[in-house]
Amino acid sequence: MTDAPFKDRMDYIRRLFAPEDATLRALREGVADNISIYPEEGRLLQLLMRLCDARKVVEIGTFNGYSTHWLAQALPEGGHIWTLEKDAARAGQARRHLQGLPVTLIEGDAMHGLSQIEAAGPFDLVFVDADKLNYAHYLDWAEIHVRKGGLIVGDNTFLFDAVWRDDPVERVRETARQSMRDFNLRLSDARKYTSIMLPTAEGMTIALKNF
Ligand code: SAH
Ligand code: DHB
Ligand code: MG
Repeated sequence: MTDAPFKDRMDYIRRLFAPEDATLRALREGVADNISIYPEEGRLLQLLMRLCDARKVVEIGTFNGYSTHWLAQALPEGGHIWTLEKDAARAGQARRHLQGLPVTLIEGDAMHGLSQIEAAGPFDLVFVDADKLNYAHYLDWAEIHVRKGGLIVGDNTFLFDAVWRDDPVERVRETARQSMRDFNLRLSDARKYTSIMLPTAEGMTIALKNF
């Protein structure tokens, strides 16, 4: 292990494996409060989709549609994405950016939105990327509505490092820390999942559902 700067390594990977097209670049640039995934994570999601032949994908937490675009680009003909966003302004912005894509944007609280799409399941991949406090609840839902051999993926699973620290972390509530620890612990169960947590900038937990 070297101590090469993370940024230099990532620049190389991004240049070679995860170049952004004009649409993706526009969704990242000029966004003041960017809370999207990184390009290499977008490319990883595409690889995961192809590996499990994903046609029906659920995304919890749309923001402006950046990650949705990465997911949409890996969909096969006839595939579909359901993406859920609570914030009305973000949902409106994302809706404009996602026009013409096989994407259904469901505005409102995700727990409610998820209950509305159950009949369209089972799903091949669920990408959890909304309020960190509710990751354990989203996992409850995904465990039921993802097919055997499908994937459950969580973003920000380091929870801004609160997940592995014991001391208080600014802006992270103890209830959110508990929820994220529960999410990772449950997905680490090798009897149920073939899974790993990747040390991306924010942490990404990836679990293949074996039941
Ligand atoms: N997936 C996006 C980033 C999502 S950021 C990307 O990588 O491009 C997290 C989003 O979750 C925010 O837009 C926030 O408004 C939304 N969110 C927070 N709580 C939510 C809830 N209860 N239901 C649905 N969306 C929620
Ligand atoms: C935040 C949310 C995210 O999904 C993310 O990837 C980074 C930051 C946030 O709410 O601060
Ligand atoms: Mg995120």
